[in-house]
Amino acid sequence: MQRKLYPSMMCAGFNHLSDEVEQLSAAAIDGFHMDIMDGSFVPNFGMSPEDFKTVADHADKMLDVHLMIDHPERYVAMFVTLGAKRVYFHPEATPHSARIISQIKQIGAEAGIAINPGTSIASISELLPLVDQVLVMTVNPGFAGQEYLEFVTGKIKQLSRIRRDYHFEIVVDGAISPEKINELNPLGVTGFVLGTSALFGKGKSYNQIIRSLKEQQE
Ligand code: DX5
Ligand code: ZN
Repeated sequence: MQRKLYPSMMCAGFNHLSDEVEQLSAAAIDGFHMDIMDGSFVPNFGMSPEDFKTVADHADKMLDVHLMIDHPERYVAMFVTLGAKRVYFHPEATPHSARIISQIKQIGAEAGIAINPGTSIASISELLPLVDQVLVMTVNPGFAGQEYLEFVTGKIKQLSRIRRDYHFEIVVDGAISPEKINELNPLGVTGFVLGTSALFGKGKSYNQIIRSLKEQQE
């Protein structure tokens, strides 16, 4: 089964962002993964709301937003207004996860939770019936170009078993290479975020890379 592919736009070239978006839109991607960082929940900063708008203005595929920020409830509405169709927030960043999920759904977006490598499935089990996606971080959030954390694969297997009772999709984010796609595909992962490990800085056209990533899954 073809899994969904989402370029991680924090890895794109920001000095020619609209060209990057148009080239990616011409490839068979399923949406744009937009990482937002506050320098507090994660020790890094990412794209600005203006960058987000630039992508939204040129994209012809859906945008998700990955809020790697403290108190994410403050900015859910803003990013949905800017064009996010799916909002991922970190339950580790708020005491009010259930309330934020309702807030996201009430304004018409899909609700996803993103979980850090060290966050247990048990700690989010009450949220699983409520969400549309679980974004499993396979690197410590905040930076592209890191190594895949092998111990997280066990969590993916656990989620995949639980998933049979609910409707959420499993999307994996961090150090996803073509080889990792082959390894994780049979485990019930439904989508992959693609950064520097599979897509950016490879010296090939995005169209070529995305096509080969789709073909390898056939
Ligand atoms: C990290 C981000 C990821 C990252 C993926 O915090 O959430 O989307 O940019 O990039 P690679 O594939 O290079 O790990
Ligand atoms: Zn991300």
